[in-house]
Amino acid sequence: MTVSLSRFLVEQQREKGHLTPELRLLLEVVARACKSISHVVNKGALGEVLGSAETENVQGEVQKKLDIIANDVLIEANEWGGHLAAMASEEMESIYLVPHRYPKGEYLLLFDPLDGSSNIDVNVSIGTIFSVLKKPEDSLVVSETDFLQPGSAQVAAGYCVYGPQTTLVLTLGEGVFMFTLDREQGSFLLTREHVQIPKDTKEFAINMSNMRHWEAPVKRYIDECLLGSEGPRGKDFNMRWIASMVADVHRILTRGGVFMYPWDKREPNKPGKLRLMYEANPMSWLIEQAGGASTNGRERILDIQPKTLHERVSVVLGSKHEVELLTQYHLGS
Ligand code: AHG
Ligand code: MN
Ligand code: MN
Repeated sequence: MTVSLSRFLVEQQREKGHLTPELRLLLEVVARACKSISHVVNKGALGEVLGSAETENVQGEVQKKLDIIANDVLIEANEWGGHLAAMASEEMESIYLVPHRYPKGEYLLLFDPLDGSSNIDVNVSIGTIFSVLKKPEDSLVVSETDFLQPGSAQVAAGYCVYGPQTTLVLTLGEGVFMFTLDREQGSFLLTREHVQIPKDTKEFAINMSNMRHWEAPVKRYIDECLLGSEGPRGKDFNMRWIASMVADVHRILTRGGVFMYPWDKREPNKPGKLRLMYEANPMSWLIEQAGGASTNGRERILDIQPKTLHERVSVVLGSKHEVELLTQYHLGS
């Protein structure tokens, strides 16, 4: 029997009290937006969607046309349904309040509309990452402060990867579920339930070109992996680096592995490259829900109290035993 995302959400709402009708609508709308983005991504050069938009986002990164298109699709899909109070995105400096003409809801939606921007033009997997929080009850007018909740407060999180298949991956805090887009039917169908990652792995993902900028614990860990069966780890490791966090995390959820984007000396004032609230938090929750672990090298990412919307963080996530080992190296034991 095939189960569509809609049916899955209805059943979650009926059987588990934690999925409200509003949150269900929100997730349906996000999935619909991802479907639209997937269609645009698939058009590629035929849709005139490749290349640079020649503008910069708040992070000082040059935006690709698809970064802006995906952001607009998510905003337009989500602003009118009455399920949201506000949104925040990698591509927008400030939070986006639901316009006055529409009803307001209780939820806050954060997203990286297009993750892996450097891969768009070369036809390599990219994706959308999202995180859902509840608006604090005492907040009358939504402000950025309302968004500054630790990842442990998320009520839903997921991503959609636009690869050879379009797959939506979701957690509501009770396991990880994967839905594959059936293009003929136009709907997401449940294809994996209660995904679990092996605790051990022989595969790591890191951008090796930054090696000379790393801190000693990261260097030690990778050196030991590279020594393979002749070193202290006693086994040979394989390396993968897609340069789209969604695709790297998707591989890890599928067959295990460890992913790192650690702090490095290139920009010593930034804690890392990846963004805490709409990249690291949703991915960390998915990984933990699948039996893996996620830290910034020292502490659990989901426990970090964000100070700003676009704050960055070091990320070490994936198979539990590897993340624990790397964290031990950072803590000096
Ligand atoms: P984004 O395209 O949303 O800016 O994110 C890109 C991120 C992440 O997806 C990926 O893991 C990393 O940047 C790749 O960085 P490098 O190009 O430094 O390897
Ligand atoms: Mn990203
Ligand atoms: Mn992005």
